[in-house]
Amino acid sequence: MKICGNIYAVGAVDERIRMFHGYRTPIGTTYNAYLAVGSRVTLIDFVKRPFADVLLSNIKAVLGERKIEYIICNHAEPDHSGALPEVLKAYPDAALYGTAACEKTLKAYCPETEINFNAVKTGDVLDAGEFTFTFIPMPMVHWPDSMATYMADEKMLFPNDALGQHIGTGEVFDSDLSLEKLFERAGDYYANIVLPFSAPVKALLKNLNGFEIKTVCPSHGVILKDALPRMLEKYAAWSDNVTDGESFTVIYDTMWGTTKKMAERIFGDYTAKGFKGDIINLSEKHHSYAMARLLESKYIFIGSPTLNNGMMPSVSAFLTYMKGLKPKNRIGRAFGSYGWSGEAAPQIHDILSSCGFEMMEPEKVLWNF
Ligand code: FEO
Repeated sequence: MKICGNIYAVGAVDERIRMFHGYRTPIGTTYNAYLAVGSRVTLIDFVKRPFADVLLSNIKAVLGERKIEYIICNHAEPDHSGALPEVLKAYPDAALYGTAACEKTLKAYCPETEINFNAVKTGDVLDAGEFTFTFIPMPMVHWPDSMATYMADEKMLFPNDALGQHIGTGEVFDSDLSLEKLFERAGDYYANIVLPFSAPVKALLKNLNGFEIKTVCPSHGVILKDALPRMLEKYAAWSDNVTDGESFTVIYDTMWGTTKKMAERIFGDYTAKGFKGDIINLSEKHHSYAMARLLESKYIFIGSPTLNNGMMPSVSAFLTYMKGLKPKNRIGRAFGSYGWSGEAAPQIHDILSSCGFEMMEPEKVLWNF
């Protein structure tokens, strides 16, 4: 599909994927790749290996028998680089461009593939016929090898995973879907993938100030044009852990219903005070859904009954997951029911405290209330 000038989207839609390295993707995703066609042909990013045929067929529909001269690999994670062996089989003379960390990773992933790799640094430029590409390494957004590429000719940025969204329902541009859906999916993506890398995100945003950008072509989800200013504002806020002081999230599991009653009471009390909140039972919703809900929440309440001198496994798993994603600037409270020993609430309290949250006293209820 032509997206503007001589730039084409040639990636693949994965509408069926529902689990992405432990992160639930309820409406699938895309693996976006782009082709810049001038007197020289450049492929920017590629796709997950099972979609290599789709990518090659899309490329062929644009190029016919023409060859690809350059391939820019912004990131070596297999959802983008998996198709490399097939792409190089079809275009063996193509030269690759990416960071030194990308070269190391690609060669480790594809030991049987001969790769003509050119390692680039910040500000290096690839002169590809009518198009000029400037490389902007962005280590740890979200892997060491990650890079964005800027094409001055169309004022386009190709930031790979950054500014992406897991949307696999066929839309191509931000104007093809509602803003509500776009930012819900972008927030879900940020909370579950990008959140621990907020310092590198801030460095990237600062770097991007030096470029005039009209269009952002991420490697997942829709191309950003109209919604781009708002998306950049959101990234600035999310990377600063800006929270809504009147927003809360209650996350819990329950055994015989008392911890559920406690969760519902907390939800009711805060709603009555005019706060906006979510209540999530971890036996009904995946932990990555809960993580996305707390992205902008100031208050985080986590509850579990005591089970075997500890908390329920679903709550323990959620806390491990959340702690790794490093949310900051929160106020936490642990709660839970118990029958005789009552360790769950204090254990949750200690973990939330170790996340750096300002803590309220834990609340424990004996049997029922
Ligand atoms: Fe979309 Fe870090 O891979």
